[in-house]
Amino acid sequence: RHRADSAPTRHFLKDDDLSPAEQAEVLDLADAMKKDPYGYRPFEGNRTIAVLFDKPSTRTRVSFAVGIAELGGVPLIIDGGTSQMGRGEPIEDTARVLERHVDAIVWRTGGQERIEAMASVSGVPVINALTDEYHPCQILADLQTVRENFGRTAGLTLTYLGDGANNMAHSYLLGGATAGMHVRVAAPAGYQPDPGILARAAEVAKGTGGSVSVLEEAAAAAEGAHVIATDTWVSMGQEGKEERVAVLMPYQVNAVLMARADSEAIVLHCLPAYRGYEITAEVLDGPDSLVWDQSENRRHAQKALLQWLWSR
Ligand code: CP
Ligand code: NVA
Repeated sequence: RHRADSAPTRHFLKDDDLSPAEQAEVLDLADAMKKDPYGYRPFEGNRTIAVLFDKPSTRTRVSFAVGIAELGGVPLIIDGGTSQMGRGEPIEDTARVLERHVDAIVWRTGGQERIEAMASVSGVPVINALTDEYHPCQILADLQTVRENFGRTAGLTLTYLGDGANNMAHSYLLGGATAGMHVRVAAPAGYQPDPGILARAAEVAKGTGGSVSVLEEAAAAAEGAHVIATDTWVSMGQEGKEERVAVLMPYQVNAVLMARADSEAIVLHCLPAYRGYEITAEVLDGPDSLVWDQSENRRHAQKALLQWLWSR
């Protein structure tokens, strides 16, 4: 264990692992770190952070690697398929080995139960870099982007359209509710959020003044929204693209939909984007889109999260 005391190790496996006050602390720190990228050195002295990928990645890989280097640490990027986990070594045994070497474990994998198994035995912080169920680091970056644009998150309406059952939808519900936002998910039957996650997000929203709702009609969901967000219709590991495209086309983020949103509305997409499917090129590459700021903010938000968890 890296800690001298016996307080339990803090992990970040899903969005509500940070309380509303803690999430705000991380976002404040992210803003400070963005202004002074080399001014924070908690990992100075050759501390190493393992970053494991069981699925492809561009942004997460680069933003963690560069961010850890900026914090003075060494990123150890591991392709999960080439580790012994790829040949069936238990996750718990992997965690017990990693924690003897590294100061945090960042992992992109499939089922949420896998990262929970890692965290259950790890004495160093475990961070979810995307699972099938959640993408909480992405939502921290998105919230930082919203704050940069509007000066706040509380009370704003964020509408997410498309695959309402994927990791991004779930993390917008939980992380947005934590930030006091009104989160609307617009998705057709069969593509709506996990009821347990929706219920948890509603509970969190009660304490923050936010709210969560699920709608079938895209235009109604977009009405007056301050943030319009979407994501790919075919997440990593999913099949049946043709059927998904047919069912989800009415949820495309395009100029007609944007006309329903608030006149100052911004557009977010975690990327990679598929122009002409979940979003048109006109909107993604247009003036309301903040997707490049959003992707840069991955680095600042994750650095803040790492330092915050490390300092617990
Ligand atoms: N948004 C995101 O997580 O991108 P990558 O899959 O490229 O890491
Ligand atoms: N929902 C997408 C997000 C990619 C960053 C996926 O899981 O593939």
